Amino acid sequence: MERVRINASRAYDVVIGRGVLDTVGDELSHLVKSRTVAIVADDVTYPLFGARTKASLESAGFYTCEYIIPHGEESKSAENYIRILEFLAERGLSRTDCLVALGGGVVGDLSGFVAASFLRGIPFVQIPTTLLAAVDSSVGGKCAINLQAGKNLAGAFYQPSVVLCDTEIIGSLPDDIFSEGMAEVIKYGAIRSEKVFGLIEDGARENLGELISECVRIKRDVVCEDEFDTGLRQLLNFGHTPAHAIERLSDFKISHGAAVAAGMCIMSRAAEKLGLCEAGISDEIEKLCKKFSLPTTAQFSAKDMFAVAMRDKKRALGKITLVIPRTRGESVLYTVSEEETEKFFALGLSEGE
Ligand code: GLY
Repeated sequence: MERVRINASRAYDVVIGRGVLDTVGDELSHLVKSRTVAIVADDVTYPLFGARTKASLESAGFYTCEYIIPHGEESKSAENYIRILEFLAERGLSRTDCLVALGGGVVGDLSGFVAASFLRGIPFVQIPTTLLAAVDSSVGGKCAINLQAGKNLAGAFYQPSVVLCDTEIIGSLPDDIFSEGMAEVIKYGAIRSEKVFGLIEDGARENLGELISECVRIKRDVVCEDEFDTGLRQLLNFGHTPAHAIERLSDFKISHGAAVAAGMCIMSRAAEKLGLCEAGISDEIEKLCKKFSLPTTAQFSAKDMFAVAMRDKKRALGKITLVIPRTRGESVLYTVSEEETEKFFALGLSEGE
């Protein structure tokens, strides 16, 4: 078992290891004064892990209640946000009571925003059940819901009290869900860690614990330097500007992980064509994405992707900050005009010269 300490505005541990789900009651009893713990899960994660979560909490003396949402991106909605707030109020949770998010990124992001705003903030625990949530969305305190106009447009920075990442759960994921998370793992390799490339090449499932720890350590370093996303943290958005456009243009039929893979390939191909990175880097990223059957491009036009990306929250004063991989394990922020962003998309979408 490994503990990675995240020294953000609220310091907390990310606990990584086999069976850590069953320690949630014990962990919480050292961290909070709660009597009641509300578990938010989805209709896939609750049947699989709800009983174990409840048993651990109840044997540590907590009362539990649960709110189950349908799985999928559509649940990250303003309607569910309000429903869960009303549920917590009806159940009479107080400011010292606690919310546990048991699920992937949708459950974690939605629950985090509920926890951040219910009674102006209650303690919150993340138990990621997907690789994507384990290495990315459960760590660092970003939480949000989607609005009609775009993804993650209402949210907060709200750090959890602890993150429990059970490698037995993540290791048992079916290949398609595992692969979605691998897109974010490849992202960490591309932006900051040559070691991640090596661990993936040697076998991602075999090296799972080490891969997750390495990604969480990278995220810790970035978040501790720029918790509120005003500079360095934007590195974590490698490939995400085209990815959010791809997700939305596909009506969310293309998953976040798949869209991130395509987005990273599009950005690195464009960067290479513009001479902004070492030759061969886009092939390396593409090869890793293909290893996990992830897409390496998208069937949308640069014009349509650009139009959707312009509604993305990350533009400021007509400028967009893109992430450019420079070499294996190193990337930089690169600020361009809106028009240049469309050019990046066009260059990256065409796979030839
Ligand atoms: N998922 C990107 C971030 O946490 O900043």
